[in-house]
Amino acid sequence: GTGKFIVGGNWKCNGTAASVKDLVKALNAGKIDADVDVYVAPPFVFIPRVQAELNSEKYAIAAQNCWVSEGGAFTGEVSAEMLVDANIPWVILGHSERRALCGETSEFVGEKVKYALSKGLKVALCIGETLDQRESGKTMDVCYAQLKAVNDVITAADWDNVVIAYEPVWAIGTGKVATPDQAQDVHAGIRKWCASNISPEVASKIRIQYGGSVNASNCDELATKEDIDGFLVGGASLIGDAFVTICNSAK
Ligand code: G3H
Repeated sequence: GTGKFIVGGNWKCNGTAASVKDLVKALNAGKIDADVDVYVAPPFVFIPRVQAELNSEKYAIAAQNCWVSEGGAFTGEVSAEMLVDANIPWVILGHSERRALCGETSEFVGEKVKYALSKGLKVALCIGETLDQRESGKTMDVCYAQLKAVNDVITAADWDNVVIAYEPVWAIGTGKVATPDQAQDVHAGIRKWCASNISPEVASKIRIQYGGSVNASNCDELATKEDIDGFLVGGASLIGDAFVTICNSAK
Protein backbone atom coordinates (compact mmCIF):
# COMPACT_ATOMS: atom_id res chain seq x y z
CA GLY A 1 0.00 0.00 0.00
CA THR A 2 0.98 3.58 -0.51
CA GLY A 3 -1.30 5.32 1.99
CA LYS A 4 -0.43 6.64 5.41
CA PHE A 5 -0.46 3.98 8.14
CA ILE A 6 -3.75 4.04 10.02
CA VAL A 7 -4.66 2.51 13.37
CA GLY A 8 -8.10 2.40 14.95
CA GLY A 9 -9.01 1.60 18.53
CA ASN A 10 -12.43 0.00 18.83
CA TRP A 11 -13.43 0.14 22.46
CA LYS A 12 -16.58 -1.88 21.70
CA CYS A 13 -19.10 -2.03 24.59
CA ASN A 14 -16.54 -1.51 27.34
CA GLY A 15 -15.73 1.07 29.96
CA THR A 16 -16.96 3.21 32.81
CA ALA A 17 -16.59 6.94 33.35
CA ALA A 18 -13.59 6.16 35.55
CA SER A 19 -11.87 3.74 33.15
CA VAL A 20 -12.40 6.08 30.20
CA LYS A 21 -10.82 8.89 32.14
CA ASP A 22 -7.75 6.75 32.85
CA LEU A 23 -7.50 5.56 29.25
CA VAL A 24 -7.72 9.10 27.88
CA LYS A 25 -4.99 10.16 30.29
CA ALA A 26 -2.74 7.31 29.14
CA LEU A 27 -3.40 8.06 25.47
CA ASN A 28 -2.67 11.76 25.95
CA ALA A 29 0.65 10.84 27.56
CA GLY A 30 1.63 8.71 24.56
CA LYS A 31 3.88 9.96 21.80
CA ILE A 32 2.35 9.21 18.39
CA ASP A 33 4.58 9.18 15.30
CA ALA A 34 3.85 11.85 12.71
CA ASP A 35 3.34 9.37 9.89
CA VAL A 36 0.27 7.60 11.28
CA ASP A 37 -3.45 8.40 11.39
CA VAL A 38 -5.22 7.24 14.53
CA TYR A 39 -8.90 7.06 15.44
CA VAL A 40 -10.52 5.78 18.60
CA ALA A 41 -14.13 4.61 18.80
CA PRO A 42 -15.63 4.93 22.28
CA PRO A 43 -19.18 3.87 23.12
CA PHE A 44 -21.59 6.70 22.25
CA VAL A 45 -22.21 7.80 25.83
CA PHE A 46 -18.50 8.50 26.34
CA ILE A 47 -17.89 10.38 23.09
CA PRO A 48 -18.52 13.92 24.40
CA ARG A 49 -16.19 13.30 27.35
CA VAL A 50 -13.50 11.85 25.11
CA GLN A 51 -13.85 14.72 22.63
CA ALA A 52 -13.39 17.18 25.47
CA GLU A 53 -10.36 15.49 27.00
CA LEU A 54 -8.48 13.53 24.35
CA ASN A 55 -5.70 15.25 22.40
CA SER A 56 -7.30 15.80 19.00
CA GLU A 57 -3.97 16.38 17.29
CA LYS A 58 -3.05 12.78 17.92
CA TYR A 59 -6.40 11.01 17.93
CA ALA A 60 -9.54 11.41 15.81
CA ILE A 61 -12.90 10.17 17.06
CA ALA A 62 -14.95 7.43 15.43
CA ALA A 63 -18.41 6.08 16.15
CA GLN A 64 -18.84 2.31 16.25
CA ASN A 65 -22.00 2.34 14.17
CA CYS A 66 -24.67 4.59 12.69
CA TRP A 67 -28.14 4.29 11.20
CA VAL A 68 -28.68 3.35 7.56
CA SER A 69 -30.58 6.49 6.54
CA GLU A 70 -31.86 9.83 7.80
CA GLY A 71 -32.72 9.92 11.48
CA GLY A 72 -36.31 9.85 12.71
CA ALA A 73 -38.46 7.23 14.41
CA PHE A 74 -35.67 4.66 14.87
CA THR A 75 -35.49 3.94 18.58
CA GLY A 76 -32.01 3.33 19.88
CA GLU A 77 -30.23 4.44 16.73
CA VAL A 78 -27.81 7.30 16.04
CA SER A 79 -27.82 8.88 12.58
CA ALA A 80 -24.91 9.79 10.34
CA GLU A 81 -25.99 13.44 10.34
CA MET A 82 -25.87 13.45 14.14
CA LEU A 83 -22.27 12.26 13.99
CA VAL A 84 -21.40 15.02 11.53
CA ASP A 85 -23.21 17.59 13.68
CA ALA A 86 -21.24 16.37 16.71
CA ASN A 87 -17.90 16.71 14.86
CA ILE A 88 -17.27 12.99 14.74
CA PRO A 89 -15.39 12.38 11.47
CA TRP A 90 -15.25 8.57 11.37
CA VAL A 91 -17.65 5.66 11.66
CA ILE A 92 -16.92 1.93 11.81
CA LEU A 93 -19.45 -0.03 9.73
CA GLY A 94 -19.96 -3.71 9.06
CA HIS A 95 -18.16 -4.97 12.14
CA SER A 96 -18.51 -8.76 12.35
CA GLU A 97 -20.15 -8.47 15.76
CA ARG A 98 -22.95 -6.42 14.21
CA ARG A 99 -23.17 -8.73 11.21
CA ALA A 100 -23.35 -11.84 13.40
CA LEU A 101 -25.20 -10.59 16.48
CA CYS A 102 -27.42 -7.85 15.08
CA GLY A 103 -28.28 -9.47 11.77
CA GLU A 104 -26.65 -6.88 9.52
CA THR A 105 -26.47 -8.25 5.99
CA SER A 106 -23.83 -7.19 3.48
CA GLU A 107 -26.52 -5.29 1.53
CA PHE A 108 -27.56 -3.40 4.68
CA VAL A 109 -23.91 -2.59 5.41
CA GLY A 110 -23.58 -1.34 1.82
CA GLU A 111 -26.53 1.01 2.32
CA LYS A 112 -25.03 2.23 5.59
CA VAL A 113 -21.68 2.95 3.97
CA LYS A 114 -23.39 4.79 1.13
CA TYR A 115 -25.46 6.96 3.46
CA ALA A 116 -22.58 7.70 5.84
CA LEU A 117 -20.35 8.77 2.95
CA SER A 118 -23.11 10.94 1.51
CA LYS A 119 -23.15 12.87 4.79
CA GLY A 120 -19.37 13.39 4.70
CA LEU A 121 -18.23 10.75 7.16
CA LYS A 122 -15.13 8.64 6.67
CA VAL A 123 -15.84 4.93 6.97
CA ALA A 124 -13.85 2.02 8.35
CA LEU A 125 -15.52 -0.88 6.54
CA CYS A 126 -15.02 -4.23 8.29
CA ILE A 127 -15.01 -7.47 6.35
CA GLY A 128 -13.80 -10.98 7.09
CA GLU A 129 -14.54 -14.67 7.15
CA THR A 130 -15.54 -17.06 9.92
CA LEU A 131 -13.48 -20.11 10.85
CA ASP A 132 -15.90 -22.40 8.95
CA GLN A 133 -15.59 -20.27 5.87
CA ARG A 134 -11.80 -20.28 6.07
CA GLU A 135 -11.67 -24.03 6.59
CA SER A 136 -13.88 -24.60 3.60
CA GLY A 137 -11.67 -22.42 1.41
CA LYS A 138 -14.16 -19.57 1.06
CA THR A 139 -12.13 -16.76 2.63
CA MET A 140 -11.64 -14.70 -0.51
CA ASP A 141 -15.17 -15.28 -1.82
CA VAL A 142 -16.60 -14.04 1.47
CA CYS A 143 -14.41 -10.93 1.48
CA TYR A 144 -15.16 -10.19 -2.18
CA ALA A 145 -18.93 -10.56 -1.65
CA GLN A 146 -18.80 -8.19 1.33
CA LEU A 147 -16.84 -5.65 -0.73
CA LYS A 148 -19.12 -6.06 -3.75
CA ALA A 149 -22.24 -5.28 -1.71
CA VAL A 150 -20.64 -1.92 -0.90
CA ASN A 151 -19.13 -1.29 -4.31
CA ASP A 152 -22.53 -1.92 -5.96
CA VAL A 153 -23.97 1.17 -4.27
CA ILE A 154 -21.06 3.65 -4.07
CA THR A 155 -18.86 5.30 -6.71
CA ALA A 156 -15.15 4.82 -7.30
CA ALA A 157 -14.55 8.33 -5.92
CA ASP A 158 -16.39 7.40 -2.72
CA TRP A 159 -13.68 4.88 -1.88
CA ASP A 160 -11.30 7.79 -1.14
CA ASN A 161 -13.13 8.09 2.17
CA VAL A 162 -13.14 4.41 3.03
CA VAL A 163 -10.56 2.34 4.88
CA ILE A 164 -11.03 -1.43 4.69
CA ALA A 165 -10.52 -3.38 7.89
CA TYR A 166 -9.89 -7.07 7.22
CA GLU A 167 -10.87 -8.89 10.38
CA PRO A 168 -11.00 -12.68 10.29
CA VAL A 169 -13.78 -13.52 12.74
CA TRP A 170 -11.80 -16.42 14.22
CA ALA A 171 -9.05 -13.99 15.23
CA ILE A 172 -11.28 -11.44 16.95
CA GLY A 173 -10.97 -11.44 20.71
CA THR A 174 -9.57 -14.96 20.65
CA GLY A 175 -5.86 -14.30 21.11
CA LYS A 176 -5.44 -16.30 17.89
CA VAL A 177 -3.90 -13.69 15.60
CA ALA A 178 -3.61 -14.38 11.86
CA THR A 179 -0.02 -15.04 10.88
CA PRO A 180 1.60 -12.18 8.95
CA ASP A 181 1.50 -14.36 5.82
CA GLN A 182 -2.17 -15.26 6.27
CA ALA A 183 -3.07 -11.60 6.66
CA GLN A 184 -0.83 -10.49 3.80
CA ASP A 185 -2.38 -13.05 1.43
CA VAL A 186 -5.89 -11.78 2.08
CA HIS A 187 -4.85 -8.12 1.97
CA ALA A 188 -3.15 -8.69 -1.39
CA GLY A 189 -6.31 -10.41 -2.66
CA ILE A 190 -8.45 -7.52 -1.50
CA ARG A 191 -6.18 -5.02 -3.23
CA LYS A 192 -6.31 -7.05 -6.42
CA TRP A 193 -10.10 -7.20 -6.22
CA CYS A 194 -10.17 -3.41 -5.84
CA ALA A 195 -7.96 -3.01 -8.92
CA SER A 196 -10.27 -5.16 -11.05
CA ASN A 197 -13.61 -4.01 -9.66
CA ILE A 198 -13.10 -0.39 -8.63
CA SER A 199 -9.97 1.00 -10.29
CA PRO A 200 -6.19 0.52 -10.20
CA GLU A 201 -5.88 4.00 -8.65
CA VAL A 202 -8.21 3.14 -5.77
CA ALA A 203 -6.44 -0.19 -5.28
CA SER A 204 -3.04 1.43 -4.99
CA LYS A 205 -4.10 4.04 -2.46
CA ILE A 206 -6.81 2.35 -0.38
CA ARG A 207 -5.66 1.50 3.10
CA ILE A 208 -6.30 -2.00 4.42
CA GLN A 209 -6.16 -2.48 8.18
CA TYR A 210 -5.76 -5.87 9.79
CA GLY A 211 -7.85 -6.61 12.89
CA GLY A 212 -8.00 -9.61 15.19
CA SER A 213 -5.96 -10.10 18.36
CA VAL A 214 -3.41 -7.43 17.46
CA ASN A 215 -1.30 -6.55 20.46
CA ALA A 216 1.92 -4.73 21.36
CA SER A 217 3.98 -7.88 20.76
CA ASN A 218 2.67 -9.05 17.39
CA CYS A 219 2.09 -5.70 15.64
CA ASP A 220 5.68 -5.16 14.49
CA GLU A 221 5.88 -8.31 12.41
CA LEU A 222 2.43 -7.83 10.89
CA ALA A 223 3.34 -4.24 10.00
CA THR A 224 6.28 -5.38 7.87
CA LYS A 225 3.87 -6.86 5.33
CA GLU A 226 3.47 -4.94 2.11
CA ASP A 227 -0.32 -4.78 2.03
CA ILE A 228 -0.94 -4.24 5.75
CA ASP A 229 -1.52 -0.50 6.07
CA GLY A 230 -2.52 -0.41 9.71
CA PHE A 231 -4.62 -2.11 12.35
CA LEU A 232 -8.06 -2.12 13.88
CA VAL A 233 -7.57 -3.00 17.51
CA GLY A 234 -10.14 -4.18 20.03
CA GLY A 235 -8.93 -5.50 23.38
CA ALA A 236 -5.48 -3.90 23.26
CA SER A 237 -7.00 -0.50 22.49
CA LEU A 238 -8.29 -0.42 26.07
CA ILE A 239 -4.69 -0.45 27.35
CA GLY A 240 -3.15 2.97 26.72
CA ASP A 241 0.52 2.06 26.40
CA ALA A 242 -0.19 -1.07 24.30
CA PHE A 243 -2.33 0.95 21.91
CA VAL A 244 0.33 3.65 21.56
CA THR A 245 2.91 0.97 20.76
CA ILE A 246 0.62 -0.45 18.06
CA CYS A 247 0.04 3.05 16.62
CA ASN A 248 3.80 3.47 16.26
CA SER A 249 4.44 0.13 14.55
CA ALA A 250 4.50 1.42 10.96
CA LYS A 251 7.49 0.09 9.06
O1 G3H B 1 -12.59 -4.05 15.86
C1 G3H B 1 -11.68 -4.70 16.40
C2 G3H B 1 -11.58 -6.13 16.21
O2 G3H B 1 -12.81 -6.75 16.30
C3 G3H B 1 -10.45 -6.81 16.90
O3 G3H B 1 -10.73 -7.08 18.25
O4 G3H B 1 -8.35 -6.86 18.93
O5 G3H B 1 -10.07 -7.66 20.55
O6 G3H B 1 -9.33 -9.11 18.65
P1 G3H B 1 -9.55 -7.73 19.16
